[in-house]
Amino acid sequence: MDALNLELVCVLQPLESPKLLEFPKIADGRSCLCFVEARKHVPFDIERVYYINDVPYGESRGSHAHKSLHQVIIILSGSLTVDLDDGESLKSYQLSRADQGLFCPPGYWRNMREFKSGTVCLVLTSAHYDVYDYIRDYDEYLAWRHHPVLR
Ligand code: TYD
Repeated sequence: MDALNLELVCVLQPLESPKLLEFPKIADGRSCLCFVEARKHVPFDIERVYYINDVPYGESRGSHAHKSLHQVIIILSGSLTVDLDDGESLKSYQLSRADQGLFCPPGYWRNMREFKSGTVCLVLTSAHYDVYDYIRDYDEYLAWRHHPVLR
């Protein structure tokens, strides 16, 4: 009988890809109006909206991952940089336009930094607040990403 050769390898579970979404923009001489409809302009039902303002100079936010939450980050005013790390590589997005949103799928370690003074950031999310959906420790995050697989 052939010997059974088991090799333990670590593979990263595939994640959905982040992407920049474009929103309708109605601009006339008076101002600029943008709108976002659930399941049309963002790929989920919006269950919760939160917003961030008054970020002190040099402060950053995030440093966590979500196991299942989908989010879209929109900059209403100002600018900031979002880092999305999948456990192997990191991609940075500089956001400054109110007619765009960064779609952040679950599973990425996220950091938000370089907030320009006066930045107001709106976040559309797919679920109510759930403390158990967070991973706040980077080593725990890497362990969660690298599920061992037998082959
Ligand atoms: P957190 O998600 O860690 O914010 P950030 O990633 O911007 O640093 O949340 C900060 C605090 O606010 C934390 O105590 C949880 C609380 N919170 C809510 O109660 N409801 C919410 O919808 C959010 C996003 C946070």
